[in-house]
Amino acid sequence: MAVWAVLVAAGRGERLGLDQPKAFAKLGEDPLLAESLRRLDDSGWVDAIVVVAPPGWEEPAILLAEELGCGKVSACVGGGAERADSVRNGLAEVPPDAVAVLVHDAARPLVSDEVIGRVLAPLSEGWDGVVPGLPVSDTLKRVGADGAVVATVSRDGMWAVQTPQAFRVDVLRRALASDGGATDCAGSVEAAGGRVKVVAGDVRLLKVTTADDLAKIASWLRA
Ligand code: C5P
Repeated sequence: MAVWAVLVAAGRGERLGLDQPKAFAKLGEDPLLAESLRRLDDSGWVDAIVVVAPPGWEEPAILLAEELGCGKVSACVGGGAERADSVRNGLAEVPPDAVAVLVHDAARPLVSDEVIGRVLAPLSEGWDGVVPGLPVSDTLKRVGADGAVVATVSRDGMWAVQTPQAFRVDVLRRALASDGGATDCAGSVEAAGGRVKVVAGDVRLLKVTTADDLAKIASWLRA
């Protein structure tokens, strides 16, 4: 089963407050993008990688992949306005004979072989998509714009999902062709009637949103 990875790195990352896109914010010595790129390239599960760079940053992304010696990078394309557009652009570079695709956020640098193995395994049992997640432990409240609590939502059966998310390539292509509204690929597959399974994620798959997140992940890498 040929496994392709689409690494989406085209977000602006405005909440980091930098003058370059989030994927090029520094995590230690290297751009944030370097960590997940190196890990996917080193993974025994992954055959080829498509990098989706911020528009205008395709060349620095290719140079970075070359510097890191990431020989599995097959293409680097520019992203779109929404995450789903970026995934669509990346998926267009995945050949028709690919069976499985991993879609991963460059904003989650600490992707591991263990989690990749966990999300790929159920695809051969007939699942259309598999996502890593963590059970929600905080109490959930729906809050109005004025800060007033509208409702307390039961956390029973609620999971916070992460990436890498694994899909049968044909299923994800069809789902993304008909839906752009979901905030993750699994949401598009669910909307198209696909069966999606959740497996154990990893707290270390924290998504970088703020400078504090970057500092926290840098400290985990130093530990
Ligand atoms: O914005 P958010 O943090 O949810 O983005 C998750 C991932 O999707 C990030 O790695 C980001 O670079 C990517 N993304 C993208 N194209 C967009 C928006 C987000 O590739 N238009």
